[in-house]
Amino acid sequence: MSESSDGPSGGGTARPGARTAIVTGGASGIGRAVCRELSRRGVHVVAADIDAAGAERTAKEFGCASAGLDVTDARAVRDLVHRVRDERGRLDFVFNNAGIAVGGTADELTLDHWNRTIDVNLRGVVHGVHAAYPIMVEQGRGHIVNTASLAGLTPAPLMLPYTATKHAVVGLSLALRAEARAHGVRVSVVCPGFTDTPLLDHANPGLPQTATGAGARESATRTMGRLYSVDSLAGDIMRGVARNRALIVAPASGRLAWRGVRLSPAAAVRVAALAVRRLRG
Ligand SMILES: NC(=O)c1ccc[n+]([C@@H]2O[C@H](COP(=O)([O-])OP(=O)(O)OC[C@H]3O[C@@H](n4cnc5c(N)ncnc54)[C@H](O)[C@@H]3O)[C@@H](O)[C@H]2O)c1
Repeated sequence: MSESSDGPSGGGTARPGARTAIVTGGASGIGRAVCRELSRRGVHVVAADIDAAGAERTAKEFGCASAGLDVTDARAVRDLVHRVRDERGRLDFVFNNAGIAVGGTADELTLDHWNRTIDVNLRGVVHGVHAAYPIMVEQGRGHIVNTASLAGLTPAPLMLPYTATKHAVVGLSLALRAEARAHGVRVSVVCPGFTDTPLLDHANPGLPQTATGAGARESATRTMGRLYSVDSLAGDIMRGVARNRALIVAPASGRLAWRGVRLSPAAAVRVAALAVRRLRG
């Protein structure tokens, strides 16, 4: 059995019969904070990540289970989702959260940048949905929570593959929500602005580096003024999920930017062009 198809390890401290969640990207950043918040609420959590050791650290810290998982491997995702449902007898939440940051100008990004981003950020979510949704339909309940980005709602430049995949995740999630309603299944999509996680320190992982990718944290800080805290975001996500929100957009400056796009897409593109000039110049 390959590492990516490892089953969950560690039992967690949730009581038998507790609600059950799988969180991809659970080793770090937003996924790790979501694991913590769910565990605090008595949910049996499986922290799944390509960084199996990191997922195990999350599990030890918050009393959950862990699994090594590469979300680009459809069979491994399916195996994990089914194994968790079979072992726990239920599947209440799947957080398709794992993702990578990719940055650079449109002319310097290679097809490898595009393909890797599509594989992780889009196909990773597709694999999670494809594995979990039929189970939830059969149960007549369940909640799929996909992590997109504010870049999935705005014309975010200098990271085209990232922006494209996040727009796709927003579209997929909202359309699935419409279908899922009749089956008692909930779907939400999380769209955070720049948040203070390790993601911003390793843009373009395993790919040719670019000036934009290397300076991701600095650019994000210049754009936002101050990066959003991952703990605040985890609180927003918990509230949004409890209220079954379609879109969970945070922080407030992100909601403002999103409103601007809806009011005038053309003006939003002009603002994005100004940001490109400022960041590059
Ligand atoms: N940090 C931000 O500013 C920000 C803003 C908007 C959206 N997001 C999104 O939030 C999600 C979580 O990002 P984060 O900021 O917590 O980053 P992070 O780097 O701290 O965590 C991402 C996790 O995903 C894991 N991962 C990467 N590729 C994987 C794969 N193929 N299979 C399984 N796991 C994999 C990594 O090992 C890591 O543990 C991502 O989808 C990201 O695009 C982040």
